[in-house]
Amino acid sequence: MLRRFKKYYQSLNNQREIKWKQKLGNDLNWLLSFDHIREKDSTKHIHRLHPYKGKFIPQLVEYFLDCHTDNLKKQSFFKKGDIVLDPFSGSGTTLIQANELGIHAIGTDISKFNCAITESKLLDYDFDLLFSEVNNLKKEIQNFETKHNIKQFEKKLSSELVEFNKKYFPSPQFKRDVYTKKINENAFGKEKEAEFLKIYNLLIEKYKIKLKQEKNDNFLDKWYIKNTRDEIDFAFSQLKTIQDKKTKKILAIILSRTIRSCRATTHSDLATLKEPQLTAYYCFKHKKICKPLFSIKYWFSRYANDTIARLLEFSKIKTDSHWATISADSRTVDIFKEIEKQSSKFSDVLQKQKIRGIFSSPPYVGQIDYHEQHAYAYNLFGFERKDELEIGPLYKGQGIVARENYAEGVARVLTNARRFMIDNFDIFLVANDKWGLYTRIAKKAGMKIVHQYKRPVLNRTERDKNPYSEIIFHLKRNQ
Ligand SMILES: C[S@@+](CC[C@H](N)C(=O)[O-])C[C@H]1O[C@@H](n2cnc3c(N)ncnc32)[C@H](O)[C@@H]1O
Repeated sequence: MLRRFKKYYQSLNNQREIKWKQKLGNDLNWLLSFDHIREKDSTKHIHRLHPYKGKFIPQLVEYFLDCHTDNLKKQSFFKKGDIVLDPFSGSGTTLIQANELGIHAIGTDISKFNCAITESKLLDYDFDLLFSEVNNLKKEIQNFETKHNIKQFEKKLSSELVEFNKKYFPSPQFKRDVYTKKINENAFGKEKEAEFLKIYNLLIEKYKIKLKQEKNDNFLDKWYIKNTRDEIDFAFSQLKTIQDKKTKKILAIILSRTIRSCRATTHSDLATLKEPQLTAYYCFKHKKICKPLFSIKYWFSRYANDTIARLLEFSKIKTDSHWATISADSRTVDIFKEIEKQSSKFSDVLQKQKIRGIFSSPPYVGQIDYHEQHAYAYNLFGFERKDELEIGPLYKGQGIVARENYAEGVARVLTNARRFMIDNFDIFLVANDKWGLYTRIAKKAGMKIVHQYKRPVLNRTERDKNPYSEIIFHLKRNQ
């Protein structure tokens, strides 16, 4: 039975490979699709410590950092003890995979918060202390919630919601009626939402719940229900009193992940916020009445447990190779100087060996604003933002000037990195070269593209299932 299922699955995959090659060309390297990798493995251990838009899958990094077989040839660009650089290190995927393989790694990124995410994944923790601080904070948040009537209010609201949804949105019948168009979802949803809002408003009044914050000056003021915001500020003030620096850092990341999930928005708009949602509403995603969040308690507790489990899992395979994150503009950063400031041991290794190569994914032209995607965290922690130094951000668009600046920016990053690398370096850049810029980028940096790996990108969003590929450019010094 299992063999028959495997065979069937294999034939489906073969069909997909044939279809994709027809659309994207026979040079598609199917090995790099990682179609056999389960989500559980592509988000293994600390790779899912904090959301981050635009990270690559760890198996891709592993393929290039580790010894692999390509066209029946064994290839290995990096070996244990080498130093790899990621000048666009984002959430740290390269550094983590390098560490697993015993390769030293340096990551530079313009976004301070991205460096904080990376650091929190790689630090060594005192787990007993972490457990105890997490439990303290959980207790404090719970007390705060009880003191502010939220617990009682949420209990009542939830029971009213369950009754109401059972009556008007029975599952799975309601969904069936929507799909067979027996019910007009828009009209019915709106009518029942108005009906439930009467109950909701009565409860808000009874429990004296304040929904809107007084100020509307920044992200935290706008996107949180008043009590949630108060709890966030309270939890942060408690966190600041923790003495141990590393524990404090990882708790800040847990809190950040928590508050990202507690923004006052509808479930359908989580990815692209539209308007703050301060009342109960008809939810098109879950096909029933849903409510915004009034407390961070649930998510904090869930993420704290999840984070500890992931860190423990990683701690079992973590090597003692050196790593460092530097928050700086990769066009100008002096890596030797920065590492010297952070660790004399790593600095000695670096001066002696220099950097062996790069594995990195630069931003794509005009697709993501990397600071803005974590606006809530910048707001809470007060980190300095350097949006204007981002290469190719969304807010600068994809016009001719934006593309030119992008090419210039990436070329400058490569030129700067050369100062710290061995002569016979290998650079791998994962890019969507929609605008055909990379040949020019390589030339500008005094390099040449020696190979291109065309990789199918599977598991894209529901809405966008068209065959799509990205290129991993292999660059070397131009003699
Ligand atoms: C595609 S993401 C890298 C994601 C990473 N590979 C991962 O798996 O998490 C590109 C990164 O480049 C960073 N970046 C943009 N401009 C930069 C600059 N001038 N110097 C350093 N980093 C920059 C962004 O902050 C962003 O984190």
